[in-house]
Amino acid sequence: MFHVKKPFDLATDHEALVVGLFDKPEKFTGLLAELDTKFEGQLTELVKAGDVSAKVKTIHKVHSFGKIGAKRIWFVGLGKEKELSFDKLREAFGKLFKEVKAGKLEEAAVYLDSFMTEKLDGLDTAHAMAEALALSTYQFEGYKQKSNEPEKKLENVTVYCEGIEEEDVQASLTVGYAFGQGTNSARTLVNIPGNLLTASDLANYAVELAAKYDFEVEILDKAEIEKLGMGAFLAVNQGSDEPPKMIVVKYQGKEQWEDVIGLVGKGITFDTGGYSIKTKAGIVGMKTDMGGAAAVLGAMEIIGEIRPEQNVVAVIPSTDNMISGGAFKPDDVITSMSGKTIEVLNTDAEGRLVLADAVTYAKHHGANYLVDIATLTGGVITALGLHTTGAMTNHESLYEQVLEASMEAGEQMWLLPLFETEKERVRNSKVADLNNSPGREGHALVAGAFIGEFAEGTPWVHLDIAGTSTTSKAYDLGPAGATGAMTRTLALFVERFMPIEN
Ligand code: BES
Ligand code: ZN
Ligand code: ZN
Repeated sequence: MFHVKKPFDLATDHEALVVGLFDKPEKFTGLLAELDTKFEGQLTELVKAGDVSAKVKTIHKVHSFGKIGAKRIWFVGLGKEKELSFDKLREAFGKLFKEVKAGKLEEAAVYLDSFMTEKLDGLDTAHAMAEALALSTYQFEGYKQKSNEPEKKLENVTVYCEGIEEEDVQASLTVGYAFGQGTNSARTLVNIPGNLLTASDLANYAVELAAKYDFEVEILDKAEIEKLGMGAFLAVNQGSDEPPKMIVVKYQGKEQWEDVIGLVGKGITFDTGGYSIKTKAGIVGMKTDMGGAAAVLGAMEIIGEIRPEQNVVAVIPSTDNMISGGAFKPDDVITSMSGKTIEVLNTDAEGRLVLADAVTYAKHHGANYLVDIATLTGGVITALGLHTTGAMTNHESLYEQVLEASMEAGEQMWLLPLFETEKERVRNSKVADLNNSPGREGHALVAGAFIGEFAEGTPWVHLDIAGTSTTSKAYDLGPAGATGAMTRTLALFVERFMPIEN
């Protein structure tokens, strides 16, 4: 895909030469100056006339009329140099590669030096570019009958970077691309409908992933889940013809199995709501209720590529939430693996039930830190909208580390409070230790508080991606559909993780 080369020679043939353009260059320097000379000052004129603009995230194409080797020059507007952030740069590259895809280009060259700023060096720009390429050109194949015409895809990107060593650029490109690809895998899992992605399918996927990256893997079947007493997880599966799977994937990047990060992802392959059934409108789209599981598996893929010196155990409770004569019902009382009993008040609040046992099981596997991620509540959408993941925590400095990662990944998240008042609401049951649905008021908070009861004293961060895991509109870094939300945040968090002194 990428070939890193130097020095750059204007005579080399390319379908397109991609150049970054900053706002108000007093005078063109470097490559731009060279180009301007080749074009006898016409470039300066084009910019003056506004035919080529440096407005951030704009793309302008100029034919080279044989004056240089490349057929066309594609200018990517980058705005004011001082104001260009890593996020904006990644989005600008996203826009670029969407247009490259629409133009059916199979080859292009990028002059990376023209994208660098004082703050963003060659490694940052390489990472941003490769990640954006993978993310922005993602497409879910779907199930339509295909035409026989072969699709044209960008196969060859020559990257010129004169400022730094080729190997370093190549390494950064590889890592950036891995972050994009891991996210795309998560997107694909979320986009696949429930009939084609059962808990068993998800388990098989995890087994394949583990084989590819040499991870340890454990798939608990129904009998084993019963033996371990995961009554909360089993209750959700009770109405289904599909067997449940508890999926465990382990990555050991340290000598000892210590400082273990537990990543726990909700893997409901379809959520009907159970007997507290969803509405006709509300049920559509519930194939995406395994977005947390997908983000965890996508992050594990990235971790498998970058192999950080960390220990991670991924735990995914997977089942659908269905209705039958045997299904669980409101008023049922169930016993979780932790021993805590739960009064079921709403079978549609199933995510927290499966996560309760998964959190307990992650601790069983030695997790010292926990991050759970789930398409958990409609309430988080009411609170924070569709572009911000809701977080909760019992440990501020662990939260800080997740937040740092999310900012670098360009994924918005915001902390919601974990107050005693909501813990009390969750603990309020006449017949059991907990109840799973104490009413709709602030229900993102009580869902988080419920999971916190199982994290207990272990440092824990909860991420509710009900709003962010899918989008109805295409954006710079992807199409409509699954977003792969928080995949990159999780992977970055793991990569950068610093154990916390207790
Ligand atoms: N899977 C849903 C949450 C959800 C809603 C995800 C919309 C994506 C988009 C979850 O299991 C659920 O049904 N939550 C209920 C909780 C309620 C019963 C307390 C909800 O949000 O309404
Ligand atoms: Zn539900
Ligand atoms: Zn659900």
